[in-house]
Amino acid sequence: MKICMIGVGYVGLVSGACFADLGNTVYCIDNNQDKIDMLNMGKIPIYEPGLSEIVKKNYLSNRLKFSTNLKDAVIKSDIIFICVGTPSSKGKKSANLKYVFNAANELSKYINKFKIIVNKSTVPVSTGDIVEKIILKKKKKKLFEVVSNPEFLREGEAIRDFRFPDRIVIGCNNKKVIRKLESLYDPLIKKGAFFLSTSRRGAELIKYASNAFLATKISFINEIANLCEKTGVNVEDVSIGMGLDKRIGSRFLRAGPAYGGSCFPKDIAALAVTGDQYKTNLSIIKSVMKSNSNRKILLIERIKRILSNKIKNKEIAVLGVTFKPNTDDMRQSSSLKLLPFLQKKGAKINYYDPSGEKKEFSRLKNISFCRNIKEACKKADLIIIHTEWDEFKTIDFKKVSKNKKVKIYDMRNLYSSSKMQKLGFLYYSIGR
Ligand code: UGA
Repeated sequence: MKICMIGVGYVGLVSGACFADLGNTVYCIDNNQDKIDMLNMGKIPIYEPGLSEIVKKNYLSNRLKFSTNLKDAVIKSDIIFICVGTPSSKGKKSANLKYVFNAANELSKYINKFKIIVNKSTVPVSTGDIVEKIILKKKKKKLFEVVSNPEFLREGEAIRDFRFPDRIVIGCNNKKVIRKLESLYDPLIKKGAFFLSTSRRGAELIKYASNAFLATKISFINEIANLCEKTGVNVEDVSIGMGLDKRIGSRFLRAGPAYGGSCFPKDIAALAVTGDQYKTNLSIIKSVMKSNSNRKILLIERIKRILSNKIKNKEIAVLGVTFKPNTDDMRQSSSLKLLPFLQKKGAKINYYDPSGEKKEFSRLKNISFCRNIKEACKKADLIIIHTEWDEFKTIDFKKVSKNKKVKIYDMRNLYSSSKMQKLGFLYYSIGR
């Protein structure tokens, strides 16, 4: 099939490359010329393990094309995916839909025969109705169908998530269009993905409800972890014990710092706004938002206790600052609150992250980037493991730190408390 992806951000690029890898011809369009030039030179603008190889392979076999020419791509394609960003509106919590509406308006000019317009961007319920109205201003209804097909890709795992999805959700009432999209996704359905077709609004809401539910699961276990710390229970046993109930499931029950990233915080806030707009109080969602922002304060309080309230002049090593491993993404990472707080209190911070130095900290005095674990930890009074990158799972702390009294705060529970204590470390973790 011939496909057009509008927007070569995270979703557009990953999905476009993977669709090409399934044998389709994919036109990836973006109005950012620099980005397109970069991609045509073989450079990948985002950090995603495995993506570069797939892009290269499909680019060389001429199935994956990068250009700014929307007109040409729309004319040549049967299916057009809108994959532009939906950031939070400035000063508001609702999703900013201007890029989606711009894309709809632009592409509508070039519809020359029947096209399936698929919205893959995360958008509030009923956005598809507005997209349809925008296109109707220029083209007759029989020339297009607007569909919702949300993505469920995780950063750092996006290729695997695309290739082996749990489900493919199509929001559309037109049977012919559903069949066409089913055949596009056929290779994935054959591998076991569930194909769910529902209403357009239904698909839009499934995306938000899924992210909100996962965020709720994390906040839930994080609060249980707080109780575990007070009652001497190991939160990991609680997660395992709960997860063994198939109705609950074991995934997304890992306690840690507050959840972050470009999706959960933004989407959950937008869902709460949608609830208010429709006069439906989504009180659980609102509590989760509050619980997650309180969590950042709780972690800071814990660090204060670990350091007996003496933060000034302490050398603190922070291992990992991204919101999760295998990404360079800093958006809504709890480290953005943590490091500046410690710095303001007079600590000297050396951080190391495998994805490199972060501009977010570059202007802050006494926060320095180190090139490896050893460099960050050598003089540390406290080592904080913030993100669970693989290379932090097997650290020989005796080798990396010269300080015999070094304290370790493992926010991802990567080490066994009893083993660390036996080795003589002052070791703190989450919910144990
Ligand atoms: C999330 C969803 O998992 C994807 O299904 C969805 O497609 C995506 O948002 C999106 O809407 O585009 P992502 O933001 O990449 O994906 O990251 P997750 O792996 O879900 O992690 C989010 C946050 O939750 C991270 O800060 C992570 O450390 C935290 N987390 C996750 C926990 O603290 N505990 C867990 O058990 C799982």
